[in-house]
Amino acid sequence: MTPLLFVAVLLVYHTPVSALENGLALRPPMGWKSWERFRCNIDCDKSPDECISEKLYKRMADELVAQGYRDLGYVFVSIDDCWSMPERDQGNRLVADTKRFPSGIKALAKYMHDRGLKLGIYADAGASTCRGYPGSMQYVSTDAQTFADWDIDMLKFDGCNVPDPKTAGLIYIAMTDALNKTGRDILYSCEWPLYQLEFKLEVNFETVAATCNTFRNYYDVQDKFESVQNVLDFYVRYQDDLTPHQRPGAFFDPDALVIGNFGLSHDESQTQMALWAIWGSPLFMSNDLTEVEPGFKAILQNEAVIALNQDPEGLMGVQIAKLGGVRVLRRRVLPKIKDSYSLGLAFVYTNQGGSPKTLSVSAQDCDLKDTRGYEVVDLFSNATLGLLHPNDTMSITINPSGVRLFKATIVGS
Ligand SMILES: *[C@@H]1O[C@H](CO)[C@@H](O)[C@H](O)[C@H]1NC(C)=O
Ligand SMILES: *[C@@H]1O[C@H](CO)[C@@H](O)[C@H](O)[C@H]1NC(C)=O
Ligand SMILES: *[C@@H]1O[C@H](CO)[C@@H](O)[C@H](O)[C@H]1NC(C)=O
Repeated sequence: MTPLLFVAVLLVYHTPVSALENGLALRPPMGWKSWERFRCNIDCDKSPDECISEKLYKRMADELVAQGYRDLGYVFVSIDDCWSMPERDQGNRLVADTKRFPSGIKALAKYMHDRGLKLGIYADAGASTCRGYPGSMQYVSTDAQTFADWDIDMLKFDGCNVPDPKTAGLIYIAMTDALNKTGRDILYSCEWPLYQLEFKLEVNFETVAATCNTFRNYYDVQDKFESVQNVLDFYVRYQDDLTPHQRPGAFFDPDALVIGNFGLSHDESQTQMALWAIWGSPLFMSNDLTEVEPGFKAILQNEAVIALNQDPEGLMGVQIAKLGGVRVLRRRVLPKIKDSYSLGLAFVYTNQGGSPKTLSVSAQDCDLKDTRGYEVVDLFSNATLGLLHPNDTMSITINPSGVRLFKATIVGS
């Protein structure tokens, strides 16, 4: 542990360490964010519908409502980098770009609230944001108060351009305090500890979980399956270090759902959705909601999969076996009987060569160990596998790059 992180730990341990005590994100937050799909496009003359502007966020808000996403829980609309003027005002406050956000952020927040949605905004712990807009490093309290004055509901706090990466934790913790002092409920979404890992600094995940509601710890997801696979490899590799620190109010964030864009097939999209459900990850789509085709929309709107993601205990799933190229992941979920949990079970076949794979596996090797048995349902097809006991064998066929996702509900609960 570096000395500075040690300081950060001491600061936090003054107060009892539980989840960040703002009462927010008791379930993985859900919504839509602009970054992966719309990036830093600020040219509204060339692309009026796609540039980072109030028009884009209103358009996506309208789609969340009209297409039924909001009613399934996708309520956050999250502004990303490139929303502000290149300079602060005379009071050192951030100002939204006057051409692209002519009504101002407060009016945009009202637009969301009038529709049962919430507005997220973006800032950066460094001297400037990743794309060179003013950073919050010297202005943590000012910016927290500005966001509260604008009725913001969530802050994504990035980590570019922090002069000494070892001190990033202190800025993140300062923002926790500053947000708290505003008295407004603002969900705090951190890019810490991603940048710690990048600079090979040791990370105290307990401090992170006591500081932020959600926390990125791996690179930005891109619109291709290889990127989703890299996330999977990272989470599995470090699962023993990560899982103890996730709980209601504190969730690891593997980044956006890229489903409904250009890069993922139907099977690959099911795989991303299944993994994010098994981990209990925040569900933020980054796509153009006006263009998402029905098959992809059905994946994003699958109520049984969303329910698995939103399990109230907030535990993070883990890989429990790798059998013939098939990864078996399981998540403990409700209902439970004493310590016997129901399970979410994902069988992921990342091998891309040719035909579907059929796997025969005993139920108990998939952690279905309670002799009362489990009612097992396939969450994407809604087919039932019926009642399974530990001594039963499951035969499961999985497409290349695909997944089978089950909920196994313990009998008698
Ligand atoms: C601020 O923190 C205190 C406890 O640390 C908590 O009770 C309170 O709800 C927090 N307020 C906000 C607005 O987060
Ligand atoms: C499997 O276990 C169940 C309940 O524990 C039992 O009723 C059944 O007979 C067992 N089946 C086999 C094939 O052993
Ligand atoms: C799934 O199937 C069950 C019956 O097995 C049915 O009651 C339920 O409505 C179905 N759900 C969906 C979303 O089709």
